[in-house]
Amino acid sequence: MDGNGRWAAARHLPRLAGHREGARAVRRTIEAAIHHHVGWLTLYAFSSENWRRPAGEVSDLTGLLRHYVRSELAELARAGVRLRVIGERARFPADIQADLAAAEATTAANTALNLNVALSYGSRAEIAAAARRIAAEARDGRLDPDAVDEAALSARLFTAGMPDPDLLIRTSGEQRLSNFLLWQAAYAELVFQDVLWPDYGESHFAAALASFAARERRFGARPG
Ligand code: IPE
Ligand code: MG
Repeated sequence: MDGNGRWAAARHLPRLAGHREGARAVRRTIEAAIHHHVGWLTLYAFSSENWRRPAGEVSDLTGLLRHYVRSELAELARAGVRLRVIGERARFPADIQADLAAAEATTAANTALNLNVALSYGSRAEIAAAARRIAAEARDGRLDPDAVDEAALSARLFTAGMPDPDLLIRTSGEQRLSNFLLWQAAYAELVFQDVLWPDYGESHFAAALASFAARERRFGARPG
């Protein structure tokens, strides 16, 4: 979800206005995902690197997150959304961590849409943490080093047990992965849309799905 700052700058508004409008786009996109029967949606809301933004913007973003979780929980639950967080959640203030845990517990039985929100998420840190766990388990004799395969690493990521993404969308015209799901997106179809995130909605989401549907996926196998 990229382009909140540029959206605000184009209107001579503070960046916070762009982030607020971005939260509305989140709502629209969740509705669109449910409408199109998408089973899993992962939103990159805050990266490990975003902590390096000016303190005022970080506190605007955490404040918005706090407000969003509290105000949207009932609606997400009603819509049948199961919310889960991936990322270093311990870096957020304790009250936000508690709200996130409560939201996960409240929505745990929902099945209409699996919604992952990536918060303080960075793919390299996630993979390094998985490697650290594997090394510790091997050291303690609980894991045979020869048994360390792709599944063993996947099982130690935040996304353990979840399907790999089929489609990865980045908005705002930037064409980078920026440390998002690097392992999991090995075979994802990439769609880059030249729309600022606060303007994103159903028509853009539908266009990304249509682009995905038109691709031929081979997963490295020879052409049929
Ligand atoms: C995305 O918009 C929101 C977050 C990263 C939290 P940006 O804040 O990156 O907006 P631009 O890239 O400056 O336009
Ligand atoms: Mg950006």
